Amino acid sequence: PKSFCSITQIVWLVFIELISHMFPGEVLVIGSNLPIIAAPGDDVILPCHLEPMFNVQGLTVEWSKPDMKPDPSDRLSRVEYVHLYRDRKEVPDMKMASYFRRTELFMDDMKHGNISLNVSEVDNGRYRCFIPKLQSTVKAAVVELVVGEKICFVDVCGSKQFCVFFLYHYKPSVSFYLIFS
Ligand SMILES: *[C@@H]1O[C@H](CO)[C@@H](O)[C@H](O)[C@H]1NC(C)=O
Ligand SMILES: *[C@@H]1O[C@H](CO)[C@@H](O)[C@H](O)[C@H]1NC(C)=O
Repeated sequence: PKSFCSITQIVWLVFIELISHMFPGEVLVIGSNLPIIAAPGDDVILPCHLEPMFNVQGLTVEWSKPDMKPDPSDRLSRVEYVHLYRDRKEVPDMKMASYFRRTELFMDDMKHGNISLNVSEVDNGRYRCFIPKLQSTVKAAVVELVVGEKICFVDVCGSKQFCVFFLYHYKPSVSFYLIFS
């Protein structure tokens, strides 16, 4: 159900190529230009990786929801994370309570620069992957997740199923941005 037309993919690859030329020799954090679409209760992989390949196992990786305001009852206005990885393991401190036991990184893939996040029972919204200590101009990327009602059909022969998603809340927004440091 999550295939997109190839022209969009080609444009995206060209875009990544151009960005790579803008910042030669730098490792860039790349998310997804297309929203990730899921049905309520689905498990989803939020894609994020480094380009070119770069081992991030020794670095801090933060996944957060940039549109989420800090808890007003917290006097320190601390940011809460969807997932925080530090010292080669998940750090559950400062994790949003609603994401407890719902997220995991693919530890083995991290040595190839893959910091995609597996989230179960996904929520709508924008998610940001961020590597604060990356020696690069592009340390973060945003992935938008849209949860929609899914209705599936079976074709006349009953052999193939295809699904349609109804995206009530989807307002396209920026899916990629740069952080200059
Ligand atoms: C990252 O890892 C996940 C899980 O193994 C995989 O689905 C995804 O395709 C990988 N992404 C890249 C860019 O290799
Ligand atoms: C994602 O996490 C769920 C829950 O822990 C697990 O069942 C599922 O196998 C994971 N997906 C992948 C691709 O590893």
